Amino acid sequence: MTEVSSEIRFLHAVQIGLGAWQWGDRVIWGYGQTHTDKDIREAFDVSLNLGVRFVDTAEIYGSGTSERLLGKFLKETDQPVLVATKFFPWPWRFTKGSILRALKGSLERIGVESVDLYQIHWPSIVMSPETMMEGMVECVKLGLTRTVGVSNFGEKRMLRAYSTLAQHGIPLASNQVHYSLLSREVEKNGTLARCKELGIRLIAYSPLEKGMLTGKYTLENPPPGVRASQYAELLKKLPPVTKLLQEIGQNHGGKTASQVALNWLICKGALPIPGAKTPKQAESNAGGAGWQITEEEVAKLDAATDTIKDYSKG
Ligand SMILES: NC(=O)c1ccc[n+]([C@@H]2O[C@H](COP(=O)([O-])OP(=O)(O)OC[C@H]3O[C@@H](n4cnc5c(N)ncnc54)[C@H](OP(=O)(O)O)[C@@H]3O)[C@@H](O)[C@H]2O)c1
Repeated sequence: MTEVSSEIRFLHAVQIGLGAWQWGDRVIWGYGQTHTDKDIREAFDVSLNLGVRFVDTAEIYGSGTSERLLGKFLKETDQPVLVATKFFPWPWRFTKGSILRALKGSLERIGVESVDLYQIHWPSIVMSPETMMEGMVECVKLGLTRTVGVSNFGEKRMLRAYSTLAQHGIPLASNQVHYSLLSREVEKNGTLARCKELGIRLIAYSPLEKGMLTGKYTLENPPPGVRASQYAELLKKLPPVTKLLQEIGQNHGGKTASQVALNWLICKGALPIPGAKTPKQAESNAGGAGWQITEEEVAKLDAATDTIKDYSKG
């Protein structure tokens, strides 16, 4: 592995983060119904108190609500927080200048002068990785973001982004991708290995497979909303995985299925950013870090999920 550049070393020191998609999203996450601003605030506070200091948001989450809530919370805490947000590649955004403009909007909503990580949320159909990175270079030069990341980039696009930034002496800090025990495409398509080789932090989104790895959803108790149909087939195959997660948790002093699922990602070299709607969930998720399952347990979990349909694209 190449030595990690000093500018992005802080990201490699983070073991676990907090996802903020739930903060304002009504369609998938039922904001306002299953959780309120008070729940979210408490989830944020619990996370900070338990040492989780990396928060991942995006301009698109709740159409800006997530960034605004984060900004409000930041104003009301003295604790240091690492802030990551994202540029959404709407098709009408086709110039590098659109990236700087979008970041300025995010900074205004969050109420800060700069963020720690600015990420391209998805590849664009109208802007090349090179153009997008040129836009990111401007953001770094103006001191509006400390580091640059991409998200949902396959290996080839990621390398194009990496090379463009390298021409300006800027490291590619991260690639945020779907990665969980039930979404292991990045292990097979070379992205995880390439990230490790180049010192790019692989940030794992939907690390609990949108709640499916918590053990609380079963055929008899399916998840609400769109997740019910998305994961209908999975629920039939999930029981042995849940059982194994719980057994491994017992070997480690009573850790929960969720904590073991998050720990498996840490063992794989990824940075999981579980979303939490409540302080209880945030507290549980913070406990996914700070200890380690054994190599043998990692291998058992690999084997138990090898034959299940991969959800990376769904
Ligand atoms: N870059 C991208 O394209 C992208 C895409 C997706 C997500 N993300 C980021 O990744 C973060 C995490 O992914 P995600 O939110 O999709 O999924 P996730 O973290 O796998 O699952 C989060 C959901 O699982 C349930 N949950 C979480 N912790 C729990 C616990 N300890 N016990 C019981 N239930 C628990 C909650 O939903 P219920 O209580 O309703 O079950 C919660 O909303 C997001 O918040 C976002 O920041 C990025």
